Amino acid sequence: MNKPLFVANWKMGVPLEHALKEVKEFVEHTTAQERSHVVVCPSFPAIASVRSAYSGVMVGAQDCSSELDGAFTGEVSAHDLRSLGCSHVIIGHSERRAHSKETDEEIGLKVARAVSVGLRPILCIGENRLERKSNNTFLVLRRQLEKGLKQVRSLKRVKLLIAYEPVWAIGAKKPASGEVIKEVHAEIVRWMRRWSIARNVSFGVLYGGAVDAQTVGSITRLLNVDGVLVGRASWSGVSCARLVHAML
Ligand code: PGA
Repeated sequence: MNKPLFVANWKMGVPLEHALKEVKEFVEHTTAQERSHVVVCPSFPAIASVRSAYSGVMVGAQDCSSELDGAFTGEVSAHDLRSLGCSHVIIGHSERRAHSKETDEEIGLKVARAVSVGLRPILCIGENRLERKSNNTFLVLRRQLEKGLKQVRSLKRVKLLIAYEPVWAIGAKKPASGEVIKEVHAEIVRWMRRWSIARNVSFGVLYGGAVDAQTVGSITRLLNVDGVLVGRASWSGVSCARLVHAML
């Protein structure tokens, strides 16, 4: 079995002047072998310096434009992220769906754009509390997956990650239970296997939402969990290292 992947989502939680210090501390507390299972996703302004200072750490972005280039003020091109040395890009995080009103269609275009420039997309999907309470979890996830992957249907050799992040667990005190994670991941894997049949698609499924050093080990040992997407607990290098030790 492959070792799980640890993706640190720094959101806007690590200011530029701390970014290098946190990565330096992370590097001091981990081995090169451990770091080969880690992707750090800093804010846009910190990507270049984090990447060039520590080439042993994989670097990802937290979003990209669906457009290739042109007159799109404020957008960040997937091509430029690739040129900066990013290997991954988070797409469709629930905070972007909520605050920036990103639609499933736009997210689908972004996923395809990322794939076309050689970035590995981390497509985030997840139901909110109301959708879970009204038994619509699978309906919502299926819609987000289908629309999120619609534009890459015709592409060959697609490598991507799906992050199951229940909206009610993001920023919460506790992650989803092992039962919930197992059930949802099994369904995602079933659906992805059917979808990727006859296509050259390789995928992994991450869990995200309130993961910390106490819970990361039990989550990554669950069936169909290929890694974690971690927010708050990844905002310090020492804490990141603690999670990676507990996970590997
Ligand atoms: P959290 O965030 O770990 O702080 O709950 C996870 C995420 O939003 O990716």
